[in-house]
Amino acid sequence: MKIIKVKNYEELSRTAATIIAGTILSKPDCILGLATGSSPVGTYDQLAAMYEDGILDFSHVKSVNLDEYVGLDGSNDQSYRYFMNKNLFSRVNIDIKNTYVPDGTNPDADACCSAYNTLLENIGTVDLQLLGIGPNGHIGFNEPADHFEAGTHCVDLTDATIQANKRFFASEEDVPRKAYTMGIGNIMRAKSILLVANGKNKAKALAAALKGPVTPQCPASILQFHPNAIIVADEDAMSEL
Ligand code: F6R
Repeated sequence: MKIIKVKNYEELSRTAATIIAGTILSKPDCILGLATGSSPVGTYDQLAAMYEDGILDFSHVKSVNLDEYVGLDGSNDQSYRYFMNKNLFSRVNIDIKNTYVPDGTNPDADACCSAYNTLLENIGTVDLQLLGIGPNGHIGFNEPADHFEAGTHCVDLTDATIQANKRFFASEEDVPRKAYTMGIGNIMRAKSILLVANGKNKAKALAAALKGPVTPQCPASILQFHPNAIIVADEDAMSEL
């Protein structure tokens, strides 16, 4: 595991975008695993700027997203499909048909999750999986649990996650209670993993993930077993290490 400590969010975003750019430049038809939330927004800004500057070409890139809220469709501005279109896909020349997010509108969890697992098997190995980390140590929406879930599954979001994510919604009641998420097995199959973390509210989870025991109680701790994981974290997020 390689840990890159940076000063602040700006430096984190530039560093993470440079790593992703390296993947795209060395393999123009790469498969990127992508994340939503506040952590990667600056990274996506930097990637869009590199595209504008003519440095990056996304025309052969494919992407698979980690997760989606159940019940929200892509026109809902809180859905992760909407987030990805707004923050990255509409700003670069990726073919939208090559971008995949679990279908939050499918009320049949088994059908949705098995379709996404099949997609992940068929599309090929993810070259680089971008991750954020929840204050409770979740990755994707793999919440603290008594076992690691391998494949895409439907989760009941924990109260901690509902509290952490209500900032994006008009009220707490509006936060969906369920999500579809890639499992730990899906995530760990990526050739390389890039986790970005910033802010004091991530410090405890990051310390547990990097230095604590590998346990499903802190899902991000599984990254200790990945052969090619890079952590980019700012001073605040590293403050408990
Ligand atoms: C988002 C995701 C989540 C977030 C995590 C951190 O697709 O899978 O695991 O990465 O909740 O969210 P932020 O970056 O908003 O603190």
